[in-house]
Amino acid sequence: MAAPPDARRIIATIRDGGRPTAEELGWFAQGLASGAVSDAQAGAFAMAVLLKGLGEEGRVALTRAMRDSGHRMVWHLPDPVVDKHSTGGIGDCTSLLLAPALASCGAAVPMISGRGLGHTGGTLDKLEAIPGFRTGLSEDQFRRQVGDVGCAIVAASADLAPADRRLYAIRDVTGTVESIDLITASILSKKLAAGLEALVLDVKCGSGAFMAGLEEAEALARALVSTAQGAGCMTSALITDMSQPLATAAGNALEVIEVMETLTGTSVNSALWDLTCDLGGEVLALAGLASDPQDGAGRMAQALESGAAAECFGRMVAAQGGPADFVERWPDRLAAAPVVVEVPSLDDGYVAAIDGRALGEAVVHLGGGRLREGDRINPGVGLSDLAGIGEETGAGVPLAMVHAPSLEAAEAAVRAVQAAYRIAAAVPEEPALVLKRIT
Ligand code: URA
Repeated sequence: MAAPPDARRIIATIRDGGRPTAEELGWFAQGLASGAVSDAQAGAFAMAVLLKGLGEEGRVALTRAMRDSGHRMVWHLPDPVVDKHSTGGIGDCTSLLLAPALASCGAAVPMISGRGLGHTGGTLDKLEAIPGFRTGLSEDQFRRQVGDVGCAIVAASADLAPADRRLYAIRDVTGTVESIDLITASILSKKLAAGLEALVLDVKCGSGAFMAGLEEAEALARALVSTAQGAGCMTSALITDMSQPLATAAGNALEVIEVMETLTGTSVNSALWDLTCDLGGEVLALAGLASDPQDGAGRMAQALESGAAAECFGRMVAAQGGPADFVERWPDRLAAAPVVVEVPSLDDGYVAAIDGRALGEAVVHLGGGRLREGDRINPGVGLSDLAGIGEETGAGVPLAMVHAPSLEAAEAAVRAVQAAYRIAAAVPEEPALVLKRIT
């Protein structure tokens, strides 16, 4: 008779390059959800998977096991149920524009998002920079809001993919994020449990992403698409540039400012706008709400231009406990850091490269992310006015602004940002936003 599952044996099997069975991975996921697996065991499991991998079968089995560690939602709505998920980056606040724009195009968007992970920011932390905004809705509230408003952006409820909730928090603080198996299982367990009909994935590639090279990003995109399709969810992925921050800000309230400027048309960030339209176009086409991705992108642009997306965003904020007048009064509603200083360039020339991970770490150290599980986020801190690749600069010219809780923290961040920028004499080629499409 086979020995009963045992966390120590499962971890040791992976550590030694073996493959645990689907039954063992199912038991481990249930143990993550119930607490039968300890934090130390979860951390060791994550490190063993990161170093040795689970293989394709193991990855699919872990994804399914984590999906089934809790409740699975079923929707009965007239509109197709769609979503997008990003593998994580810097200044990536696309979800905040995309969910209301998709809803304005006739989709139902029950977006289950995450918090900051490693050096990357998290949609929930950004939304919680809006005073009163609640990301922890009950399933009833979530369902009602998606039906009434068309979209809701929430944390996974306690019983939706609870194995991911636990493992995500442990990976965040144990250097175990950058694994194709763990990222696939994490993203898809939540998305598949949410009962989606169509999903678009934004797989980030570059210095600020978990996958820095195109080859690894493509491997992750293919793993995500094939695992999701295999589970019955129409899915495609765009591999998109993360060799520089997407927005010109990185930090929770600072990114919300950029979202509001773009949504209300007061100062449109073109990268944010274009990516929102490209990703939205993909999923509208998958869901049958557009004839093809290009037609879908046009519909998304129309939702943004007409103000319909801004109006829907305002209804979502109000429904989730934020100020009812947020779209009109957002400049008065967001927290600001007490110390704001310039980051002077050390050289003359053009911005040739940016270490996105170092920028993300600078934000985490300012208090915009977590160094330990449960750390409180400071919503006002971060970086703004970040110079992009190709921008001309000169010694003493600001590369960015640091928003800090103290002068001491600001000085450390200034040094970190200066070290993250490479300035060269030659004009560099500007990176394309969408690098590849995987269907
Ligand atoms: N987003 C997730 O939800 N999980 C990951 O592992 C990475 C990005």
